[in-house]
Amino acid sequence: MKSHRVCDVLPSMQREEKTNVFKKMVVAGLLVAGLCAVAPGASAQQKAVDAEGHPWWQHAVFYEIYPRSFADSNNDGIGDLNGITSKLDYLTDLGVDAIWVTPCFPSPQVDFGYDVSDYEAIDPMYGTMKDFDSLVAEGKKRNVRVILDFVVNHTSDKHKWFQDSRSSKTSEHRDWFIWRDGKGPGQPPNNWLSTFGLSAWKLDPKTNQYYYHYFYPEQPDLNWRNPAVEKAMLDVTRFWYKRDVSGFRLDAVDTLFEDLKLTDNPVLPGTDKFGRPNMEEKYDKKLPEVHDVMRKLRGAADEYGSVLIGETWTANVSELKDYYGANNDELQLPMDLMMTGFRGLHADEYRKHIGAVNGAGHWPVYVISNHDIMRSYTRYADGAHNDDIAKMMAALYLTLRGTAIMYYGEEIGMENNDPKSKDEVQDPIGKLGWPLEKGRDGERTPMQWTDGQNDGFSRAKPWLPVPPSAKTHNVASEMKDQNSILSFYRQLLALRHKEPALLEGDYLALNENDSNVLGYVRRYKDEAFLILLNMSGTEQQARLDLSSIGFPMPKVRVMLTSFHKPLPPANGFVPMEPYSAFIAKITK
Ligand code: GLC
Ligand code: CA
Repeated sequence: MKSHRVCDVLPSMQREEKTNVFKKMVVAGLLVAGLCAVAPGASAQQKAVDAEGHPWWQHAVFYEIYPRSFADSNNDGIGDLNGITSKLDYLTDLGVDAIWVTPCFPSPQVDFGYDVSDYEAIDPMYGTMKDFDSLVAEGKKRNVRVILDFVVNHTSDKHKWFQDSRSSKTSEHRDWFIWRDGKGPGQPPNNWLSTFGLSAWKLDPKTNQYYYHYFYPEQPDLNWRNPAVEKAMLDVTRFWYKRDVSGFRLDAVDTLFEDLKLTDNPVLPGTDKFGRPNMEEKYDKKLPEVHDVMRKLRGAADEYGSVLIGETWTANVSELKDYYGANNDELQLPMDLMMTGFRGLHADEYRKHIGAVNGAGHWPVYVISNHDIMRSYTRYADGAHNDDIAKMMAALYLTLRGTAIMYYGEEIGMENNDPKSKDEVQDPIGKLGWPLEKGRDGERTPMQWTDGQNDGFSRAKPWLPVPPSAKTHNVASEMKDQNSILSFYRQLLALRHKEPALLEGDYLALNENDSNVLGYVRRYKDEAFLILLNMSGTEQQARLDLSSIGFPMPKVRVMLTSFHKPLPPANGFVPMEPYSAFIAKITK
């Protein structure tokens, strides 16, 4: 059972100093700081549906764990399930409600688990099925749910289905994958490219046909047009639901179907990072048939009250909207990964996007980081305010209306640690595309638990090197520092779990002409939360006029800021430090 005390959510300053600083804050104009009250309470997601009719996953904070890199219990340099279990108290304390564990199934590890050779077992590297059951059970005790990663687009070439498929043209599983004749000697069936480097077709000498792989050649695409594939895959989900898994993150759903006629993709000017011609992925991606499969997977999920999160790389809000299903019968949580593509911090750009997502009418799912993209800390860093920016971005996506998915280590400000030379690279795309494409090792480094040997991740040499920043950015040190990124996250998440306005409130944009400070309100009944985020490197005065949203004479109670200095007197404006966050509760 989770309970968070309001006292924990006052501004990120030394706890002993809080009272002093609050005394120092001059209460003037509209700005009135409140005192803390103790209100323990269970978080809403304990029940299947809350008073407002929201299912648990709408208010849950999800946390992505890359199992190789989270915690190593048997000291072989690779993280494992028991390692995760040993850290559940840390996660509960942080305010995490569900963990998404990236693939931990048997795999040759060509794509570090995203090449699955058995969907219904645990890779011995990560532990046993008993360890998995224990993770789920221990999670349950703490009200932390477990979400698995379901690689729906392809299997490993070592999966028994593919082994049989490639054995002969008439094998039982031949049509479970996509086999075609070449266009001529040495010529693949068409011009489609693998997103991981070369042609998307590989000639298999045994039967002299090509098989299709959107990712590595060791990841043959399943043929979802075959009803037997569909049935087998739906059965996999039920296998895990029966083991108390609360849902799946569906991997690479955009690429489930390909054009039956194998039409060549249009070639565009220029070349990509692998030196290949640019192409519009018109016939190998986002085909409408994907939605039929989403509906069927959803049907199975609904039998067990489970949630489906989608890895949905959409180009715009309209594409994202489609993944919820015309009748809300597809993915409950298609990830909005669009913010990860924004370059620089521009309040206008964020305001426009958030407005459009809210306008679309679905429950948003914001993500700023994951195991495939440069860590958010590194992406946003300006060299001078890195930690401040990390806090501000946390305040952004953890106070918006919708579900948030965190990436491990983000809460301590972990940064990318890219390989320094080609021979250090582990991720095959880094080897193939070096130096333009360094691969994804940099964002997958071991979780930084302490400033000690191997940052407390393992007693053995970790599979990827620990970034130098582990000395300053690690759980143990940041726990002790009230001004750390971790302390900020903890306070923020505590607030998020406790305050109905942050959970249920409408999103209303504020100060829409301000290009530096992103301002909005989450309004719920007679109260609201006001969030101001200075996205610029200079101090800004943010206007504080809430009359337009129905609070002409509001009482404003500061709940959390990332400010370094005490709030000076204010009069209708909030002085915002560079890259800072200000969160207040307003009542009528
Ligand atoms: C998804 C995963 C990525 C993986 C790819 C192929 O994009 O997030 O890590 O390499 O699918 O399975
Ligand atoms: Ca291990």
